[in-house]
Amino acid sequence: MDIRKTVDLTWDDFDELRDPRPAETEFDRVVERAISRRGFLGGTLAFGSGAAVFGSGILEGVARAQGSGFAFTPVGIATDHEVHVPQGYAWKPLVRWGDPLFSEAQGAWSAEAGVPVEMSDKVFGENTDGMETFEADGHVLLAINSEYVNPKINLPAEAKGMPRTAAEVRLLKNLQGVTVLEIAEGADGWAVVLDSPYNRRITHETQMTMDGPAAGSALLRTNADPEGMSPKGTMNNCGSGRTLWGTYLTCEENFNGYFGATGAYEDSEGLKRYGVEGEGRYAYERFDPRYDLSAEPNEPNRHGWVTEIDPSDPESTPVKHTALGRFKHENAEMVQATDGRVVVYMGDDERGEFIYRYVSNGTWAEGQPGGSLLAEGTLFVAKFNDDMSGEWLPLTPQSTGMSMEELLVFARIAGSKAGATTMDRPEWIAAHPSRAEAYCALTNNKNRGLKPNAGGDATPVGGPNPREANNFGQIVRWRPEGGDHGADRFTWDLYVMAGNPELFEDAYAGSANVTPGNMFNSPDGMAFSSDGMLWIQTDGEDSNADEFAGMGNNQMLVGNPDTGEIARFLTAPNGAEVTGLTWSPDGRVAFVGIQHPGGSWPDGAGKPRSAVIAVWREDGARIG
Ligand code: FEO
Ligand code: CA
Ligand code: CA
Repeated sequence: MDIRKTVDLTWDDFDELRDPRPAETEFDRVVERAISRRGFLGGTLAFGSGAAVFGSGILEGVARAQGSGFAFTPVGIATDHEVHVPQGYAWKPLVRWGDPLFSEAQGAWSAEAGVPVEMSDKVFGENTDGMETFEADGHVLLAINSEYVNPKINLPAEAKGMPRTAAEVRLLKNLQGVTVLEIAEGADGWAVVLDSPYNRRITHETQMTMDGPAAGSALLRTNADPEGMSPKGTMNNCGSGRTLWGTYLTCEENFNGYFGATGAYEDSEGLKRYGVEGEGRYAYERFDPRYDLSAEPNEPNRHGWVTEIDPSDPESTPVKHTALGRFKHENAEMVQATDGRVVVYMGDDERGEFIYRYVSNGTWAEGQPGGSLLAEGTLFVAKFNDDMSGEWLPLTPQSTGMSMEELLVFARIAGSKAGATTMDRPEWIAAHPSRAEAYCALTNNKNRGLKPNAGGDATPVGGPNPREANNFGQIVRWRPEGGDHGADRFTWDLYVMAGNPELFEDAYAGSANVTPGNMFNSPDGMAFSSDGMLWIQTDGEDSNADEFAGMGNNQMLVGNPDTGEIARFLTAPNGAEVTGLTWSPDGRVAFVGIQHPGGSWPDGAGKPRSAVIAVWREDGARIG
């Protein structure tokens, strides 16, 4: 494999390229098809007045969405390099990669050279992703993930997309992680407050600590940290979450791609299950032994965690919470059980991996700090049954035969042992703000029904993953028994199956709330606005061709959870995904992330710049 070519791949395709999995045997497929047909035809989508119903392989029962129930006129598809919002709305960039957080970095970015290494941790990071709004002593703060880098854009052209020196590696490290920045509203709308004492960059090098049962484990010790308590850096920060006590949760996703080996190293089931191999995506290992498996075999175990950051305290040390398990975390959606315990829903974004739930031992009440609530609790995996029931299976030494430390560090292996359901790439999970109901975007899975997951678990068609070779994705939702997120049983249905009703008449047409007017593929980011609307962001195929014809660029849609209606609100520039959504405290402005745009968006400077944009209604009304 020519590693230089891998920088252009998506992280998902990068893993697939390095870890091709054998197709299941023809016998497996015959069996699975039989199962899937039963499950698919037998399944009924049962929730609420807007529920869709499976029948003859086609979803029926939802009034076709016309967008009439929304406060905006839906936008059409786009294939250009611009952002489009509905009539009566406007947008502008809030912050782009390379924009200064401090005066000394003003003018640091140029289209020709990007950002010099000495300024690379004083500017907004690359490839914006999950984000949340906070308020501290009357100041409005955003915490924003920078998921990964585009070395061909971030490094000088002579580097040809691969760092040549330790300084260039440092530059890439600094452009990733998390940015905390203060924003303020002036005559010209919201803007970054330069030199705010809250402004902060947290990178691949920032000192962290760990808590929970695996902290200090031999599995987490390195030469630089023989206690296994002081990891450096948070990486591949994808989705986000916020705690009830007002801190930020950043979720480490495709950490495996940063590690490689310059010499011999011991391969293991643990490395294999997480896709850690001898050649890293950005050649970090050639310049920094921390990323070299032959020097520091445990370093990968210190990544893939949910990490908590206090945006209101620039001096605070981020904490990696081992109790929440190690996998390719998408986001972390925190809610509360009826008895006050803290519940965190989490997806593991890889083909055929699992959905998790963490439940704290202790309880939380308004005004209290988090204390040990994310350190002491139980991790569960989801099992979805074809009869539309489901259960949370606890990961314990008894259920997995693994020690507590092992089952947290290798949560995927523990989930397999416990019997979790293999899912179509679990992305963001969003909980309804006023009723006990959670939604998870299952973005797509071309291997569904064809190949096992990385642990060898079969991926039969059925249940909430009802289509073989699923390129469109769906959103599953569940309601916990008794309306209590702490309950161990739930019922589920599909809120939507994306598809193309212009090309297909079977399940690949999508559910009945998918129309030629709102077609999309690959739901990924999701968040509820305070009015109970589900905002859906896509990260999928934007060729607008073949089975994706009529879907255009990636987009953001709004879904009504009660009626099933879905309407397109925003389209992204070609090449970009839409990811990350939060609102100003007064709900009048939405902040939306535009990641890896193509062309020269947004300012025609000769290079594309990932950016957070502000979107508002021109009449000043609330939009979220
Ligand atoms: Fe970083 Fe699963 O998206
Ligand atoms: Ca994502
Ligand atoms: Ca994605």
